Amino acid sequence: MQLITTIAAMRAARAEQTLLGLVPTMGYLHAGHLSLVRRAKAECGCVAVSIFVNPTQFRPNEDFSRYPRDLERDLALLAAEGVELVFAPSADEIYPADFGTYVILPAADEVLEGAARPNHFRGVATVVCKLFNIIQPTHAYFGQKDAQQTVVIRQMVRDLNLPVEITIAPTVREADGLALSSRNSYLSPSERAIAPQIYQALMAAQARYQAGERTAATLKHTVAALLQQEPAFHMEYISAADPLTLRELKLIGPQGALLSLAVRLGSVRLIDNLLLTEV
Ligand code: PAF
Repeated sequence: MQLITTIAAMRAARAEQTLLGLVPTMGYLHAGHLSLVRRAKAECGCVAVSIFVNPTQFRPNEDFSRYPRDLERDLALLAAEGVELVFAPSADEIYPADFGTYVILPAADEVLEGAARPNHFRGVATVVCKLFNIIQPTHAYFGQKDAQQTVVIRQMVRDLNLPVEITIAPTVREADGLALSSRNSYLSPSERAIAPQIYQALMAAQARYQAGERTAATLKHTVAALLQQEPAFHMEYISAADPLTLRELKLIGPQGALLSLAVRLGSVRLIDNLLLTEV
C-alpha cells in the first residue's frame, strides 16, 4: 500500500492503473467505510482511499478542530483490506493560499443539511470535484447515510460531465441500529445508550408506510412523537422528501420518499435516514 501526500505523486501513481475505485473519506474509519472499500475492491480491483478532513465543509462553530483523527489506525485497517493507494494530503496541498474556485449547487443550501449548515455542500462538492480531478477514479463510492451528499454529488457529476461512475451503498449500522459515523465517538455512554432510538423511530414510520400510510405529515409525526419521549433529543428537522429532488412531499407517491432527520443529543449532532419505497 502506498501512502501519498502530494498531488503530483498521486497523479503519477494513478497513471499506472486503468480501473480505479475511489472511496473519499475524512478518516477515523469505521465498518461503513470498509464496506465501501470492499465494494470498490470487488468492482474495480484497484482501490484508492482519500483521507482528508476537509476544512471548507465545516462552519466556523462546528467540530473541525476536534474531528477525530487517527491516521496510523486508518492505514492499518486499509492495509488489511488490500487497498493500493491512500491519498492523505495536507490542507495546504488542497487549498493553497491563492485558492479561489468553488463548486456551488445553490438548491442544496435551501433544504435539510444544506439549510442547517450553510456552505457545507459548497465545501463537499468542491473537495470531491478536486479529488476526482486529482485521482481520476473510474468509480467512486459513497454511503447512503449522508443522503443529501449523495444527491449533491450525483448532480455535480451530471452537471459537470465528470467521467466517474457513482455508487451509493446502504448505511451500515451497529447491532442496535445506530448508523455508523465517526462522530459517534463523541457520544457519552448514556447518550450512546439512547441513540438507537433514532433508528427505532424511523423504523416505526417505515412500518406505518408499509401498512399503507402515505401522508408525509403523519409519518413525520410518528418519528417526532417517539423521539419527543426522550428529553435528551433535540429535533432539528424531520423530512419526508422526494428521493431525487429532495423537495418536501405532502403525499408520498410511487417515487417513494427519503425520510431523514437531524437531532442533537448533548453536544453531538446525529443524522439518519431511511428510503421509503414500495415493495
Ligand atoms: O462523507 C464524507 O466523509 C465527506 O463529506 C467527503 C465525501 C469525504 C468529502 O469531504
